[in-house]
Amino acid sequence: MVTAYDYLWAGIYDEAGVDAILVGDSLGMVVQGHKTTLPVTLEQMIYHGEMVARAVKRALVIVDLPFMTYQVSPAQGVENAGRILKETGAAAVKLEGGVHQAATIRALAEADIPVMAHVGMRPQSVNKFGAMSKVQRDEELLLADAKAAEAAGAFGIVLELIPRSIAGKITAELSIPTIGIGAGPECDGQVLVSCDMLGLSGFQPRFLKKYADLRSTVISATRDYVREVSDGTFPDAAHSHE
Ligand code: KIV
Repeated sequence: MVTAYDYLWAGIYDEAGVDAILVGDSLGMVVQGHKTTLPVTLEQMIYHGEMVARAVKRALVIVDLPFMTYQVSPAQGVENAGRILKETGAAAVKLEGGVHQAATIRALAEADIPVMAHVGMRPQSVNKFGAMSKVQRDEELLLADAKAAEAAGAFGIVLELIPRSIAGKITAELSIPTIGIGAGPECDGQVLVSCDMLGLSGFQPRFLKKYADLRSTVISATRDYVREVSDGTFPDAAHSHE
Protein backbone atom coordinates (compact mmCIF):
# COMPACT_ATOMS: atom_id res chain seq x y z
CA MET A 1 0.00 0.00 0.00
CA VAL A 2 1.16 3.55 -0.71
CA THR A 3 -0.47 6.92 -0.16
CA ALA A 4 -1.70 9.10 -3.01
CA TYR A 5 -3.45 12.43 -3.03
CA ASP A 6 -4.28 13.19 -6.68
CA TYR A 7 -5.22 11.74 -10.07
CA LEU A 8 -1.74 11.90 -11.64
CA TRP A 9 0.16 9.99 -8.97
CA ALA A 10 -2.67 7.58 -8.10
CA GLY A 11 -2.75 6.41 -11.72
CA ILE A 12 1.01 5.79 -11.66
CA TYR A 13 0.90 3.75 -8.42
CA ASP A 14 -2.09 1.77 -9.70
CA GLU A 15 -0.23 0.99 -12.93
CA ALA A 16 2.82 -0.05 -10.87
CA GLY A 17 0.76 -2.74 -9.15
CA VAL A 18 0.14 -1.73 -5.53
CA ASP A 19 -2.75 -3.62 -3.91
CA ALA A 20 -4.16 -0.61 -2.08
CA ILE A 21 -3.91 3.17 -2.26
CA LEU A 22 -4.47 5.18 0.88
CA VAL A 23 -5.66 8.76 0.60
CA GLY A 24 -4.00 9.54 3.90
CA ASP A 25 -4.63 12.59 6.00
CA SER A 26 -0.83 12.82 5.87
CA LEU A 27 -1.76 15.13 2.98
CA GLY A 28 -2.08 17.81 5.65
CA MET A 29 1.68 17.62 6.08
CA VAL A 30 3.09 16.56 2.70
CA VAL A 31 0.69 18.48 0.43
CA GLN A 32 -0.61 21.34 2.59
CA GLY A 33 2.57 21.97 4.60
CA HIS A 34 1.04 21.77 8.07
CA LYS A 35 3.06 20.44 11.03
CA THR A 36 0.39 17.83 11.90
CA THR A 37 -2.60 16.14 10.27
CA LEU A 38 -5.06 17.84 12.61
CA PRO A 39 -6.15 20.75 10.37
CA VAL A 40 -7.32 18.45 7.54
CA THR A 41 -11.06 18.66 6.91
CA LEU A 42 -13.62 16.16 5.63
CA GLU A 43 -14.21 18.32 2.54
CA GLN A 44 -10.48 18.21 1.72
CA MET A 45 -10.38 14.40 2.10
CA ILE A 46 -13.38 14.13 -0.23
CA TYR A 47 -11.70 16.48 -2.74
CA HIS A 48 -8.50 14.41 -2.80
CA GLY A 49 -10.25 11.06 -2.49
CA GLU A 50 -12.39 11.74 -5.53
CA MET A 51 -9.34 12.57 -7.68
CA VAL A 52 -7.55 9.41 -6.57
CA ALA A 53 -10.54 7.09 -7.01
CA ARG A 54 -11.11 8.45 -10.54
CA ALA A 55 -7.58 7.41 -11.57
CA VAL A 56 -7.51 3.96 -10.03
CA LYS A 57 -8.56 0.97 -12.11
CA ARG A 58 -7.61 -1.97 -9.90
CA ALA A 59 -6.25 -1.12 -6.44
CA LEU A 60 -8.42 -0.80 -3.33
CA VAL A 61 -8.85 2.90 -2.51
CA ILE A 62 -9.07 3.73 1.20
CA VAL A 63 -9.71 7.27 2.46
CA ASP A 64 -8.74 8.50 5.93
CA LEU A 65 -11.42 9.95 8.18
CA PRO A 66 -9.69 13.13 9.40
CA PHE A 67 -9.43 14.40 12.96
CA MET A 68 -12.77 15.12 14.67
CA THR A 69 -14.94 13.62 11.94
CA TYR A 70 -15.59 10.39 13.90
CA GLN A 71 -14.34 10.93 17.47
CA VAL A 72 -17.59 12.56 18.66
CA SER A 73 -19.84 9.52 18.19
CA PRO A 74 -20.37 6.39 16.07
CA ALA A 75 -23.23 8.21 14.29
CA GLN A 76 -20.88 11.04 13.32
CA GLY A 77 -18.40 8.47 11.97
CA VAL A 78 -21.04 6.64 9.92
CA GLU A 79 -22.41 9.87 8.47
CA ASN A 80 -18.99 11.16 7.44
CA ALA A 81 -17.69 7.81 6.18
CA GLY A 82 -20.90 7.50 4.16
CA ARG A 83 -20.18 10.86 2.55
CA ILE A 84 -16.67 9.71 1.68
CA LEU A 85 -17.90 6.55 -0.05
CA LYS A 86 -20.77 8.36 -1.84
CA GLU A 87 -18.79 11.39 -2.99
CA THR A 88 -15.37 9.90 -3.81
CA GLY A 89 -16.01 6.44 -5.23
CA ALA A 90 -13.49 4.97 -2.74
CA ALA A 91 -14.35 1.55 -1.30
CA ALA A 92 -13.21 1.90 2.32
CA VAL A 93 -12.26 4.31 5.09
CA LYS A 94 -9.56 4.28 7.76
CA LEU A 95 -9.75 5.68 11.27
CA GLU A 96 -7.24 5.87 14.11
CA GLY A 97 -7.84 3.86 17.26
CA GLY A 98 -8.73 0.44 18.64
CA VAL A 99 -10.40 0.00 22.01
CA HIS A 100 -11.69 3.57 22.14
CA GLN A 101 -13.03 3.47 18.58
CA ALA A 102 -14.54 -0.03 18.76
CA ALA A 103 -18.13 1.25 18.84
CA THR A 104 -17.53 3.39 15.75
CA ILE A 105 -15.77 0.57 13.90
CA ARG A 106 -18.74 -1.67 14.71
CA ALA A 107 -21.25 0.94 13.54
CA LEU A 108 -19.36 1.37 10.26
CA ALA A 109 -19.13 -2.37 9.68
CA GLU A 110 -22.85 -2.73 10.41
CA ALA A 111 -23.54 -0.01 7.83
CA ASP A 112 -21.49 -2.07 5.32
CA ILE A 113 -18.75 0.55 5.20
CA PRO A 114 -15.44 -1.33 5.06
CA VAL A 115 -13.19 0.14 7.75
CA MET A 116 -9.48 -0.19 8.41
CA ALA A 117 -8.15 0.64 11.88
CA HIS A 118 -4.82 2.30 12.73
CA VAL A 119 -3.04 1.61 16.01
CA GLY A 120 0.39 2.26 17.48
CA MET A 121 1.55 5.80 16.89
CA ARG A 122 -1.60 7.62 15.84
CA PRO A 123 -0.78 10.97 14.21
CA GLN A 124 -4.18 12.45 15.11
CA SER A 125 -3.26 11.92 18.78
CA VAL A 126 0.07 13.76 18.53
CA ASN A 127 -0.96 16.11 21.32
CA LYS A 128 -1.35 13.10 23.61
CA PHE A 129 1.83 11.31 22.51
CA GLY A 130 3.92 14.50 22.41
CA ALA A 131 5.71 13.65 19.16
CA MET A 132 4.97 11.76 15.98
CA SER A 133 8.35 10.04 16.08
CA LYS A 134 7.73 8.20 19.38
CA VAL A 135 7.80 4.41 19.04
CA GLN A 136 4.84 2.94 20.96
CA ARG A 137 6.00 0.05 23.17
CA ASP A 138 3.12 -0.86 25.48
CA GLU A 139 2.50 -4.42 24.29
CA GLU A 140 -0.63 -5.00 26.35
CA LEU A 141 -2.26 -1.80 25.12
CA LEU A 142 -1.29 -2.39 21.49
CA LEU A 143 -2.59 -5.97 21.50
CA ALA A 144 -5.83 -4.85 23.14
CA ASP A 145 -6.30 -2.10 20.52
CA ALA A 146 -5.65 -4.47 17.63
CA LYS A 147 -7.94 -7.17 18.99
CA ALA A 148 -10.71 -4.68 19.73
CA ALA A 149 -10.51 -3.36 16.15
CA GLU A 150 -10.75 -6.86 14.72
CA ALA A 151 -13.58 -7.90 17.04
CA ALA A 152 -15.52 -4.76 16.08
CA GLY A 153 -15.31 -5.59 12.37
CA ALA A 154 -12.26 -3.85 10.89
CA PHE A 155 -11.14 -5.56 7.68
CA GLY A 156 -7.49 -4.64 8.21
CA ILE A 157 -5.25 -2.67 10.51
CA VAL A 158 -2.33 -0.29 10.12
CA LEU A 159 0.41 -0.71 12.75
CA GLU A 160 2.51 2.45 12.96
CA LEU A 161 5.84 2.84 14.76
CA ILE A 162 5.86 -0.17 17.05
CA PRO A 163 8.62 -2.72 17.75
CA ARG A 164 8.70 -5.57 15.23
CA SER A 165 8.32 -8.19 17.99
CA ILE A 166 4.98 -6.68 19.03
CA ALA A 167 3.87 -6.27 15.41
CA GLY A 168 4.73 -9.95 14.87
CA LYS A 169 2.68 -10.99 17.88
CA ILE A 170 -0.31 -8.92 16.75
CA THR A 171 -0.03 -10.31 13.22
CA ALA A 172 0.04 -13.87 14.56
CA GLU A 173 -2.95 -13.33 16.82
CA LEU A 174 -5.18 -11.52 14.32
CA SER A 175 -6.90 -13.04 11.31
CA ILE A 176 -7.26 -9.69 9.48
CA PRO A 177 -4.21 -8.34 7.61
CA THR A 178 -1.78 -6.05 9.42
CA ILE A 179 -0.16 -3.32 7.33
CA GLY A 180 2.99 -1.92 8.90
CA ILE A 181 4.76 1.42 8.75
CA GLY A 182 7.81 1.43 10.98
CA ALA A 183 6.58 -1.85 12.43
CA GLY A 184 9.00 -4.35 10.84
CA PRO A 185 8.76 -7.22 8.39
CA GLU A 186 6.45 -9.53 10.35
CA CYS A 187 3.37 -7.56 9.26
CA ASP A 188 1.23 -8.99 6.46
CA GLY A 189 1.77 -5.89 4.28
CA GLN A 190 3.53 -2.53 4.31
CA VAL A 191 2.51 1.07 3.69
CA LEU A 192 4.71 4.10 3.04
CA VAL A 193 3.89 7.73 2.41
CA SER A 194 4.59 7.94 -1.32
CA CYS A 195 6.42 11.30 -1.27
CA ASP A 196 8.82 9.88 1.34
CA MET A 197 9.29 6.56 -0.46
CA LEU A 198 10.18 8.38 -3.69
CA GLY A 199 12.59 10.79 -1.98
CA LEU A 200 10.48 13.86 -2.74
CA SER A 201 9.87 15.09 0.79
CA GLY A 202 13.28 15.07 2.48
CA PHE A 203 11.79 13.15 5.46
CA GLN A 204 14.22 10.44 6.71
CA PRO A 205 13.10 8.42 9.72
CA ARG A 206 14.89 5.13 10.46
CA PHE A 207 12.08 2.98 9.06
CA LEU A 208 11.95 4.70 5.67
CA LYS A 209 13.63 3.22 2.63
CA LYS A 210 13.86 5.63 -0.28
CA TYR A 211 13.29 3.85 -3.56
CA ALA A 212 14.20 6.92 -5.64
CA ASP A 213 15.69 10.38 -5.24
CA LEU A 214 13.04 12.30 -7.16
CA ARG A 215 13.71 15.56 -5.31
CA SER A 216 17.22 15.73 -6.82
CA THR A 217 15.95 14.61 -10.22
CA VAL A 218 13.24 17.29 -10.29
CA ILE A 219 15.56 20.05 -9.03
CA SER A 220 18.18 19.13 -11.63
CA ALA A 221 15.61 18.99 -14.48
CA THR A 222 14.07 22.31 -13.44
CA ARG A 223 17.51 23.94 -13.25
CA ASP A 224 18.30 22.67 -16.77
CA TYR A 225 15.00 24.15 -18.03
CA VAL A 226 15.63 27.52 -16.36
CA ARG A 227 19.18 27.64 -17.76
CA GLU A 228 18.12 26.73 -21.31
CA VAL A 229 15.31 29.30 -21.34
CA SER A 230 17.73 31.92 -19.98
CA ASP A 231 20.46 31.20 -22.52
CA GLY A 232 18.04 30.76 -25.45
CA THR A 233 18.71 27.08 -26.20
CA PHE A 234 15.06 26.20 -25.44
CA PRO A 235 12.85 26.25 -27.40
CA ASP A 236 14.98 25.27 -30.38
CA ALA A 237 13.81 24.47 -33.93
CA ALA A 238 12.73 20.93 -32.97
CA HIS A 239 10.34 22.32 -30.37
CA SER A 240 8.90 25.19 -32.46
CA HIS A 241 6.16 25.35 -35.11
CA GLU A 242 7.14 26.67 -38.57
O1 KIV B 1 -2.15 9.40 6.67
C1 KIV B 1 -1.39 8.52 6.28
O2 KIV B 1 -0.68 8.64 5.28
C2 KIV B 1 -1.34 7.29 7.06
C3 KIV B 1 -0.24 6.31 6.76
C4 KIV B 1 1.03 6.78 7.34
C5 KIV B 1 -0.58 4.95 7.21
O3 KIV B 1 -2.14 7.09 7.92
